[in-house]
Amino acid sequence: MADQRRHARPDTPPTLRISDLVVEFSKRSGPVRVVDKVSLEVWPSEIVGVIGESGSGKTMTALSTLRMLPKQARTSGSIELGQRSLLGLPEEAMRRLRGDRLSFIPQDAMRALNPTMRIGRQVGEPLMLHRRTPLRDAIRRAVDLLRSVHVRDPERRIHDYPHGFSGGMQQRAMIAMGLALEPELLIADEPTTALDVTVQAQVLRLLKEIRDEKATSILFITHDLGVVAELCDWVYVMYRGRIVEDGPVERIFTAPRDDYTRALLAATPTLFPRQAS
Ligand SMILES: Nc1ncnc2c1ncn2[C@@H]1O[C@H](COP(=O)(O)OP(=O)(O)O)[C@@H](O)[C@H]1O
Ligand SMILES: [Mg+2]
Repeated sequence: MADQRRHARPDTPPTLRISDLVVEFSKRSGPVRVVDKVSLEVWPSEIVGVIGESGSGKTMTALSTLRMLPKQARTSGSIELGQRSLLGLPEEAMRRLRGDRLSFIPQDAMRALNPTMRIGRQVGEPLMLHRRTPLRDAIRRAVDLLRSVHVRDPERRIHDYPHGFSGGMQQRAMIAMGLALEPELLIADEPTTALDVTVQAQVLRLLKEIRDEKATSILFITHDLGVVAELCDWVYVMYRGRIVEDGPVERIFTAPRDDYTRALLAATPTLFPRQAS
């Protein structure tokens, strides 16, 4: 039976459509292809997982969308956000999109945050840069944003520097910053990998809340099947630069079609599928 994609709409384009994306690095021995004709979609309000072992090309796929690949990388194919084609956009236009309609939450929040800037200003900075919001208003908005990601006592915490925040709090601050401009698409690359299980569960709950309340689309990259089962509507399985299979999360977990997916599931024996309701 064909898989049903609940979020797909006949009358609107997907939030993100990647078609035949190829990413290559040139080596002395010739080009090395690390992303091989990847096609994927993220629809409005949909949480899409990309799963695969380390080195399978997940991050390169995400960075292609953000146009943040290493300089030596060569790309082909197409990436559309709404109906705007990203690969050919001038850098300046791309800079305006980034953080505005498209936000990135990296794995390592601590490294992504500026250690010398107080949290309040940092979370409010996208508003200052993209919307010319005055500092005082941006900081006031940062308080609301931090509250919305469940940082306690945000009026006080905005004065902290990142090192005064725990790992989980830093990741929330990153998410708050990513939400400042209410982007259509949030790309999260292993955002909970560095967190302990309890904090990870809180961050996942928070992402679902954001999707439910703001109808944000989320592309969630992970090597963790448990996280996918918990969070995602639709999953792409990536192996050696290719998508080997995709489908609704329940079907992927209960009736995988690809050998690699089956091996991946077999390697995680404690995992149980989400109950279909
Ligand atoms: N700057 C680079 N030059 C050459 N190869 C790279 C570079 N960056 C990443 N790669 C290779 O691209 C492949 C895919 O990497 P990546 O997308 O980071 O994998 P994943 O995120 O799935 O772990 C890996 O084999 C990696 O070694
Ligand atoms: Mg990666």
